[in-house]
Amino acid sequence: MSTIPPSPRRAAVLKGLGTYLPPRVVSNEELSGRLDTSDEWIRTRTGIRQRYWVDPGTATGDLAFEAGARALKAAGVDSVDAVVLATSTPDHPCPATAPAVAARLGLGTVPAFDIAAVCAGFVYAAASAASLIVAGLAERVLVIGAETYSGILNPADRTTSVIFGDGAGAIVLEAGSAEEPGALLGFDLGSDGERHDLITIPAGGSRMRTSEDPADQYFTMQGKPVFAHAVTRMGESSAALLERIGWPTESVDRVVGHQANVRILHALADFLGVERARAVVNLDRVGNTSAASIPLALADAMLSGEVAPGDRVLLSAFGGGLAWGSTALVWPDITAA
Ligand code: COA
Repeated sequence: MSTIPPSPRRAAVLKGLGTYLPPRVVSNEELSGRLDTSDEWIRTRTGIRQRYWVDPGTATGDLAFEAGARALKAAGVDSVDAVVLATSTPDHPCPATAPAVAARLGLGTVPAFDIAAVCAGFVYAAASAASLIVAGLAERVLVIGAETYSGILNPADRTTSVIFGDGAGAIVLEAGSAEEPGALLGFDLGSDGERHDLITIPAGGSRMRTSEDPADQYFTMQGKPVFAHAVTRMGESSAALLERIGWPTESVDRVVGHQANVRILHALADFLGVERARAVVNLDRVGNTSAASIPLALADAMLSGEVAPGDRVLLSAFGGGLAWGSTALVWPDITAA
């Protein structure tokens, strides 16, 4: 009797990673010069030593273009079937930033759209891209997370100004099998709109187009409750995903959490019962880059050898919305540019 072997499950597979940081480094000392803060406070309360901010005239789409070009180069490809761009600092309120980036990258008339899930944006964008691939709507997708938070930070607000940085990261996902290294093995996504007030830009949208108060045009965050939600939501989401894909927690080599605060990353490791040393940390160098955070952390971890082919890697992100998401993969033998 002959048996037909089961066909491998179609999955989105990581093929290349590209990142871009603007040239201007903003140190804690520089911020301490104009805000009531100190290098000591910022380092001990957040773990951040510096961040990168764009110069006037540089937009999110410019960073996205650079990271996208590098990801395509790293993957050794010059065409994709779709572009998904995660950002909460788009070039314009309308239209989306992705089509212009796709055109600049020479990708033709492929579908291109933005995802707005704030700091969880990259995982949401990867899930959207993976869904296009698994559904057979695309063979290859460019996923970009790009932000210019420096433009939405209230210069008078020390609680947010010291935390956020600008940057972009991108990956190329391609159709393959769930059995091969690099396959995104599943997603756990969630949101809690009851707490949308914890992270918001009050004005500029349809609920409040303009405001007499200039502060309403800037990003606001209630740090303490956000901290607590970040740990619980990323922790529960990660645990749910690990259970679904059958990875015992102790088998996870690296936890790449959203880079918001080193204390959150350590608390996430503690929540999961993973040694803190397995938590990838690069926020000391780049700050919180929102939708660009996960790919920037992955690129640094690749460079330092913290993430190597064959490693079991868990990705988890959390942000405004509230929104959160996790995914996991066995790290493939790829290059980063
Ligand atoms: N420099 C100096 N003092 C500061 C400061 C700064 N940059 N920012 C806040 N403070 C002060 C506060 O005013 C407060 O002073 P008070 O006690 O006199 O009122 C004190 O420090 C403690 O503030 P608190 O907000 O309780 O600090 P914290 O330990 O919670 O740290 C955050 C603040 C923002 C670093 C922390 O809450 C955090 O990381 N939250 C999550 C951020 C995050 O993850 N954001 C992105 C999610 S997507």
